[in-house]
Amino acid sequence: MANTVLIGAQWGDEGKGKIIDVMTEKVDWVVRYQGGNNAGHTVEIGTEKYVLHLVPSGILHDEKRCVIGHGVVVDPMALVEELEGVTQRGISIAGRFFISDRAHLVMPYHRTIDEYREKKASSGNTIGTTKRGIGPAYGDKASRTGLRMGDLLDPEFPDLLRKRVEINNKILTALGAKPVDAEEILSTYQRAADYLKPFIADTIPLLNQAVRAGEPILFEGAQGTMLDIDYGTYPFVTSSSATAGGACTGSGVPPHRIDRVIGVVKAYSTRVGEGPFPTELTDAMGERIRTAGAEFGATTGRPRRCGWFDAVVARYSAMINGIDVWAITKLDVLDELETIRIGVAYEVDGQRVDQVPANVRVLEKCQPIYEEMPGWGCSTRETKSFDSLPANAQAYILRLTELTGVPVEILSFGPARESTLVLESPVG
Ligand code: IMP
Repeated sequence: MANTVLIGAQWGDEGKGKIIDVMTEKVDWVVRYQGGNNAGHTVEIGTEKYVLHLVPSGILHDEKRCVIGHGVVVDPMALVEELEGVTQRGISIAGRFFISDRAHLVMPYHRTIDEYREKKASSGNTIGTTKRGIGPAYGDKASRTGLRMGDLLDPEFPDLLRKRVEINNKILTALGAKPVDAEEILSTYQRAADYLKPFIADTIPLLNQAVRAGEPILFEGAQGTMLDIDYGTYPFVTSSSATAGGACTGSGVPPHRIDRVIGVVKAYSTRVGEGPFPTELTDAMGERIRTAGAEFGATTGRPRRCGWFDAVVARYSAMINGIDVWAITKLDVLDELETIRIGVAYEVDGQRVDQVPANVRVLEKCQPIYEEMPGWGCSTRETKSFDSLPANAQAYILRLTELTGVPVEILSFGPARESTLVLESPVG
């Protein structure tokens, strides 16, 4: 398989973990390039369920090499906990797991600042973050005041840390939070450094050697296009480049070495946290989809907001990411619905809008224009080919491809690896 970027084309939680797990069989390397432990990828293998936050899900496949690239922000304690969880289940990571020495560290004060900023924000201004310290960690990176993975191994780390703690304690105090203790952080981070040392490397030459050797790479996106710092519903976004371009800036693999982009979309829409969501259903239908789709966050357990498929968002995502094919997930969640709606455009102040407006206050006012299609009223879980899908399900999928201008290559009907259909050639 060529070098492939797999991204979420909605607000995250599109079921990327499962598709990545299926695609991993065809690659040698799996790379995370942005975000941090705000992500949660759920993979079910047989009766085992794995929720991974930082480690690429390729780790569950022996022989695959996995990289946390420099675009990721790493909470070392969370990473150690996750790696211990993986190794305790008998999975060996030695020699096949690497963390970029350029990846920025999430520090305890980042988590507290994240939590207190949310607490202090006036109603309407909260983002609904995961409180993992992601925004403040990327903030330090952009302000050129961050600490990086490689610094953890530097003899000067204690001094660097003490300086950062002194400054951040002023911020914490101003926010009404308790200051942190530098020596306490040093001792826990030292333990993490000892554990992580064998895995910290300059991953840029490593990945470029893999490219030269023709070893296929899968770049695993976290979050989704509508949460991207530039393209998302700013300011209700995460702080990283969750779109395809982030795969290059977050890994060091050049753009012309990327061959393919797969966009993952749910057959409907969900969002966690605050921010505009034009096709949101706040009625019994939203509740029905949430229950059928078990729509609760893998990282925070929060109930996800649910709504109809938004073709405006999907078209926008296809354009930004250069999506070649869709992976459409969770089709089975719609199995029992009598009718299904698709948002095809928006209406604002009596005007039809076909693009996602940049201004979040305009997007808040957007009313979806819907198209309605009949449901199929039977289970799709055992589907073995596109042609064997109920006619109405085929029609629904084909309409999504038509509205977005992108064919579908992967369909997923349930959490198990087996409930995935990779079509021999894309349809639509
Ligand atoms: P942060 O990334 O924790 O700063 O949160 C910013 C926004 O992104 C919030 O609305 C979160 O709910 C959302 N978010 C962050 N990570 C994920 C994810 O993996 N899936 C879905 N939403 C996410």
